[in-house]
Amino acid sequence: MQTIVSPFDPITIGPLTLRNRFIKSGANEAMCMDGTPTRALVKHHTDLARGGVGMTTVAYMAVAPEARTLPNQIWMRPDILPDLRALTAAVHAEGAAISAQITHGGSFVTGMKVNGRTISSSGGFNAAGALKGNFLQRAMNEADMERVVAEFVAAARLARDAGFDAVELHMGHGYLLNQFISPLSNRREDKYGGSAENRVRFPARMLAAVKQAVGDTTAVLAKINVADGTRRGAKVEDGIVTALALQAAGAHMLVLSGGRNVESTWFMFGSRMNREEIVKVLKQQGDWLTALMMKGAAASEPDITFKEMYFLEYSRKIRAAVDVPLAYLGGIKSLANAEQAMSEGFECVVLARVLIHDPALVNKFHSGERTQSGCDNCNACVAYIYHPAGTRCVYNPPNDPALNRIAASARD
Ligand SMILES: Cc1cc2nc3c(=O)[nH]c(=O)nc-3n(C[C@H](O)[C@H](O)[C@H](O)COP(=O)(O)O)c2cc1C
Repeated sequence: MQTIVSPFDPITIGPLTLRNRFIKSGANEAMCMDGTPTRALVKHHTDLARGGVGMTTVAYMAVAPEARTLPNQIWMRPDILPDLRALTAAVHAEGAAISAQITHGGSFVTGMKVNGRTISSSGGFNAAGALKGNFLQRAMNEADMERVVAEFVAAARLARDAGFDAVELHMGHGYLLNQFISPLSNRREDKYGGSAENRVRFPARMLAAVKQAVGDTTAVLAKINVADGTRRGAKVEDGIVTALALQAAGAHMLVLSGGRNVESTWFMFGSRMNREEIVKVLKQQGDWLTALMMKGAAASEPDITFKEMYFLEYSRKIRAAVDVPLAYLGGIKSLANAEQAMSEGFECVVLARVLIHDPALVNKFHSGERTQSGCDNCNACVAYIYHPAGTRCVYNPPNDPALNRIAASARD
C-alpha cells in the first residue's frame, strides 16, 4: 500500500531535517546595503519562519564582489559573519531552517560595471551586461574554474559557520553555472561544451567540491532548469542529463525551476513580466536607461496565460529519471497543489510569490484558515528588487525603508 505523504510531514535531506516540506524560494529581497544584510532582511525571513515554512532561502548571495548582478547584493566575506549569524539565529528561534543561495552571475551583470571582461562559459559580446558597460565576456580557463570553485567552497563554509542549514548552488536562470549548462550561452568545443553531459561537467564538479567541503553538516542543494523555454535553449532532455550528473555528484536535493533572465523570464514565472511596474520603480530611482530597455523587452514576450503548477509536465520527466530528492517549484498556489506535488513523488515544494504576498500562508494552510493563496501573479513584486526599501507585494503595506539602512547585527 502506498503511504500518503503530507506536505506538513517532516523530511530529512542529507544531514538536515525540516519540520515540514514547504520551502521559501530564493527571491531577491533587495535587503542589503553595500553587500551587508540589513534588519529588513532579518524581519523578512523571520516573518516567513514564524509563518510556518520548513525552510527559508536567502536569495542571491554572491561568492565574490564581481559575482553580483546588482550593487547592493550580499557578497560572502568574513566581515558579514555577525550579520549572517543574526539572520540565522532569528530564523532558528522561530523553528525553521535557513538556506543560503550561493551564486555567481558570470556575464549576467546587469546592474553594475565589473572590472575587465565578465567571465562566462564562452567569450564574445555580452548583451546582458552592455547597459552597464560590460560589453565583452571571456571564456573561463582551467585557472578561472579552480578559482571560482574555491570561491563557492569558501562561501559555503562561511554559510555553514554562520549557521545556515543548507546551501543552494544556483545553476538555473542564466547565471554563471547555467551559462555552462545552457546551449544558449555555451559554445565551447572542449570537454565543457557540446553534449549535455559535457555542459554540466563544470557545475557537477562545483557541486562535488562544495559537498566535500560542507556536506557532512550542511545540506547541499542545486537549483536547476527543467528547460530554458526557448527554441535553441536547453530542453527537458538536457534537464534530465543535468539532474543525473548532479545526483552522481552527491546533491542532497534538486530544486526544479526553468527559464532564463534574459531570453525567457515569462517561462520562469509562467506569466508575462509586469513591465509597467518595473518601469515605474526604475524611474523612481532615476534609472531611465534600464527602464527603457525593460519596456523594449516586453515586446518580445509571448502572451501566455498563467497555469497553476506550470512546470509539472517537465518536472515529472525529471522525477521519472532520477532517485535524488526533488523539490517541485513553479506556480504552487494552493494546499491542493502542494498535496499533488507530494502524491507525484516530489519531496518538497518551493514557493516564492505566494509567500511574498503572505508570509504566514503555510500556517494558514495548516489551520485551515486558507486553502488558496490570494496572490494573482501580477508580478509587480519583481519590480521591487530595484526598490530601496526591498521586495514586497503591492497589495501589502509598504516596507519600512529605515530597516533597510541598519546592519542586521547592529545593536540598539
Ligand atoms: C521578486 C522575485 C525575485 C526573485 N529573485 C530570485 C533570485 O534571486 N534567485 C532565484 O533563484 N529565483 C528568484 N526568483 C524566482 C523564484 O525563486 C521562483 O523560481 C519563481 O518566482 C517561481 O516560483 P513561484 O511560482 O512560487 O513564484 C524571484 C522571484 C520573484 C517573484
